[in-house]
Amino acid sequence: MENSSRVLCKALQGRIMSAEQAAALIPSGVNVGMSGFTGSGYPKSVPAALARRIAEANGEGQKFRIGVWTGASTAPELDGVLAEADGVEMRLPYQSDPTCRRRINEGRMEYIDIHLSHVAQFVWFGFLGKLDIALVEVAGILEDGRLIPSSSVGNNKTWLDQADKVILEVNSWQSPLLEGMHDVYYGTQLPPHRMPIPLVRPQDRIGEQYLRCDPEKIIAIVETNSPDRNSPFSPPDENSMLIAGHILDFFEHEVRKGRLPKNLLPLQSGVGNIANAVMAGLNNGPFDNLTAYTEVLQDGMLDMLRSGKLSMASATAFSLSDSALEELNRNLDFYREKIILRPQEISNHPEVIRRLGVIAMNGMIEADIYGHVNSTHVMGSSIMNGIGGSGDFARNAYISIFMTPSQAKNGKISCIVPMASHVDHTEHDVQVIVTEQGLADLRGLSPNQRAKVIIDNCAHPDFRPALHDYHDRALQCSLGRHTPHLLDEALSWHQRFLAEGCMLPKLQEAMPM
Ligand code: COA
Repeated sequence: MENSSRVLCKALQGRIMSAEQAAALIPSGVNVGMSGFTGSGYPKSVPAALARRIAEANGEGQKFRIGVWTGASTAPELDGVLAEADGVEMRLPYQSDPTCRRRINEGRMEYIDIHLSHVAQFVWFGFLGKLDIALVEVAGILEDGRLIPSSSVGNNKTWLDQADKVILEVNSWQSPLLEGMHDVYYGTQLPPHRMPIPLVRPQDRIGEQYLRCDPEKIIAIVETNSPDRNSPFSPPDENSMLIAGHILDFFEHEVRKGRLPKNLLPLQSGVGNIANAVMAGLNNGPFDNLTAYTEVLQDGMLDMLRSGKLSMASATAFSLSDSALEELNRNLDFYREKIILRPQEISNHPEVIRRLGVIAMNGMIEADIYGHVNSTHVMGSSIMNGIGGSGDFARNAYISIFMTPSQAKNGKISCIVPMASHVDHTEHDVQVIVTEQGLADLRGLSPNQRAKVIIDNCAHPDFRPALHDYHDRALQCSLGRHTPHLLDEALSWHQRFLAEGCMLPKLQEAMPM
C-alpha cells in the first residue's frame, strides 16, 4: 500500500512533509504530548529528527530542551534518542528507557512519576502547565479528518484535545485492520459535572472507533513505515513458574471458598516475565471463559485469546514480542473481535476497576514485613521505571496481588525487608504478596500477624531468621507495638547493601546454615 493512501482527507494532504521539516516546527521550551505506550504506537521518525536538531543546537552551546509527556514507556527511537541528546527538561508520566533512567538518576532530567489514570485529568485541570504540541502516531486519516488510532491509545485523545498544534505520524506499517478495535470515550467531564462511566462489563463499547482532531490545529503530517518496538520475553524461569503456581492455587482456593466465580473476575496483569508466566499458567489451568480488564496486552494474553481460555481483553496498548506481533498482525480479523483498546483514563479508571472487581497482579521491587510495597525505587533513591498503572489497579482492585522473586542480585538483596526504602502501595492497598517461596494472604490480618506470614511464606530462607529477629526485637523494644520498628535499624539492610554489597546482617552470616 502507498503511504499516501493512508491520508484520505484531501484538505490535509498538503500538510504532508518530512520528519526534519516537522521537527523544525518544534521550538525549545515547549511541552510535547507524544503518543506511545509500552513500546507501541509511539511516533517513529519526528523524535529522532528532533533529537538530531537538539544535539546540534546543544553542541553550539544553546540549551534546547522540551517537556516530553507520553502515555507510558516508549522506545529507543523516542526516549532513548531524546535523552541521549540531553533534550528533555521534564519527562512524565512513566519511562523504562536505560538512558532516560540514567539521566533522571544523574539529576539531569526532571521526572514526574504519575498514576497513569491521573494524567489526562491533570492536564485538563491545568496542573501540569500548558500542552503546546501533540505528536501522535495514527494508522490512517479518514476522508472526514477523523483519525484511525494506532497500536496504543494512551493519552492521545487528551493530547489532541488540549494541544495548540498537532503533528501526526501516519504509519503504514500498522495494519489497516486495526480499524474498529478502538473505543475512544468522549464523555468524561470536569468536576462538578462528572457523570458515571457507563461501562459495566469489560466487553462494553462506550465510545467511538476514531480519534477526533480539529484539522485547523494540524501543522504537519509525516508518513512513516516502521515497526513498533518489540519486547522479547524469556521463557518462564523456575521462579516465575513457582510464582504462577502459587497464584493459580490461590485462585482455586478462592473459587472453592465462593469468593471468586469459576471464571474468576477480570484480570489485570502488569508487564514483565513473571506476569507472562502467570498468563501461561492460566492458559494451562482449570479456569475457562476468563476476561481481562488491563492496561497492556502481552504475549501471554494473546496466547489465551487464541486458545479460547480468555474470551476478550480490554487494554490501552500492546506490549508484544516479535513473534507475537507477527501473529497479531497475521490474524487481526480474529483478534479485533476480542480486543478493545481504550484511552488510559478509561483502561485504568478507578471507578470502572472497582465496579468490575478486577484482580490486579503487578510486579514489585520489594515489600516490607508489614506489606508496604516499593514498585519504583532501588535503595530508596534511584528510579527504576515508575508506578505506571499499578496504583490505579492495586487500590481499586477486588484482590490486589504483588509478586517478585524473594531475592535479587544473586541473593545479595532480600526483596522482603524490615522497612521498604520507598513506598508506592501502602499496607492498605496490598492484599496478597507472592514470591517463589509462597503466597501471603494478608486480608484480615493486623500488622504483626502480617509480618509473620510475609516472613514465613515469602522471604527467602537465608533471610528469614534475620527478619524474625528484627520483628521480635522491634516488638520488645519499640514504643508502639502496633507496627513496631527499630528506627535506627529499619533501613540498615539497604545501607549495608550499599556499603558492603550484601543485605544479610553480619550476625546471620556467622550463623551455621
Ligand atoms: N532491590 C534492588 N534491585 C532489585 C530488587 C530489589 N529488591 N528487585 C529487583 N531488582 C532489580 C533486578 O535485579 C533487575 O535489575 P537488572 O535490570 O539490573 O537486572 C531489575 O530490578 C528488574 O527486576 P526483575 O526481577 O527483572 O523484575 P521485572 O522486570 O519483573 O520488573 C518492576 C519489576 C517492579 C521493576 C516492574 O514490575 C515495574 O516497573 N513495576 C512498576 C510499574 C508497574 O507495575 N506496571 C504495571 C502496571 S499495569
